[in-house]
Amino acid sequence: MSMNNEFRPKIVAFCCNWCSYAGADLAGSSRLQYPADVKIIRVPCSCRVNPMFILRAFEKGADGVIMCGCHPGDCHYSTGNYYARRRMTLLFSMLEYLGIENGRTRVEWVSAAEGVKFSTTMNEFVDKIRSLGENVRLGDLRCKD
Ligand code: FES
Repeated sequence: MSMNNEFRPKIVAFCCNWCSYAGADLAGSSRLQYPADVKIIRVPCSCRVNPMFILRAFEKGADGVIMCGCHPGDCHYSTGNYYARRRMTLLFSMLEYLGIENGRTRVEWVSAAEGVKFSTTMNEFVDKIRSLGENVRLGDLRCKD
């Protein structure tokens, strides 16, 4: 919580190097606004995101996790995002079973030319997480302030 008691969610965004990270870069260089609560982790490809990374993010106190990659068919490694998509579909349904609301996780395809989409997606995602509030599931109490 910040000084004025406004809830500031912790958001982890995994972005593939070739499209989404470049989209984030474009958003930045175009001076498009998105909340500083979004912490970007650059990965070579969305398929590099092991489901354990997402569980670990929640364990370490993340309130929401978003994975961004190249559009289907545009992956720099041909099929990486197809594997990632399948993996995340399974993981998100398992997380829902564990009590992590569906809105706390998201997959979005953002190309290098879509700075506006990147900024819009992050703003929407942060608003969604703000409406859901703090994540109390899976968090390791030792990681709390
Ligand atoms: Fe972007 Fe594979 S390189 S999703």
